[in-house]
Amino acid sequence: MSLPNPDFVRQAAAAVRARAPAIPSVGVVLGSGLGAFAEDLESSVQIPYAEIPYLPSPKVAGHAGTLHLGRIGQVSVACLQGRVHAYEGHPLEDVVFGVSLLAELGCKSVLLSNAAGGIADGMQAGDLMLITDHLNLSGSTPLLGPARDGIPRFLDMTAAYSPALQRSARRAANGLQVSLHEGVYAGLLGPSYETPAEIRMLRTLGASAVGMSTVLEVLALRALGVEVGAISCITNLAAGLAGHVLTHEDVKETAARVETTFRALFRRWILEAFAA
Ligand code: HPA
Repeated sequence: MSLPNPDFVRQAAAAVRARAPAIPSVGVVLGSGLGAFAEDLESSVQIPYAEIPYLPSPKVAGHAGTLHLGRIGQVSVACLQGRVHAYEGHPLEDVVFGVSLLAELGCKSVLLSNAAGGIADGMQAGDLMLITDHLNLSGSTPLLGPARDGIPRFLDMTAAYSPALQRSARRAANGLQVSLHEGVYAGLLGPSYETPAEIRMLRTLGASAVGMSTVLEVLALRALGVEVGAISCITNLAAGLAGHVLTHEDVKETAARVETTFRALFRRWILEAFAA
């Protein structure tokens, strides 16, 4: 099984609870360049990943590797600032260890974010996109391996991205007058960006945006019975669509430009969905 060893996840959760006893109801995963939202948690306790047993630390620039536990209004939130990616060579159980920890801590819902390349017409760098569904083109799944008690063998993925959380994200965006695209996120292994031919293929397959994360975490979370919502920050137009080469610097720069809007939207989304 590529889901992490439940004993390791329990030990990690015990280490977190020893420092922050409040039970979080909502988890948040902050993608490349989007980590500043963690600063909006009130009364927060911060724990570096390195101080949590078995939780792998990210190595990519723009990914901090700190677990923040605190509140947004009355909602108790656990926030993973930084994630590890399969392209770093991590085994899949490490890639999904963080979200498994959120589930073990008590999160019934997890909101994910990522940086992505925009494919659909009408997208511009700096736009935001509500993920309504995904294409897992990473070549693997954390659900590989022998069946495990409590984990569905043939997991239904019909409504992987919670329709209720999609509605609350739309309400949050409307309330803030932030325009929010909607579409299908294609998750690839990376770490190279795509070729223009691959982007044409992805467009034909129905993808609106492309990135290198999220889909494996969503599979793990759904298998663990956790409700999922996700928003992409369109940090660039995908390969071949912008007329210039792609760099991680551009991705980080756009994410930084969107930071204020992104933070406000995530805060409002949590309040709309969980504080009512
Ligand atoms: N492709 C894949 N992953 C990405 C991109 C992209 O264009 N932008 C940010 N993450």
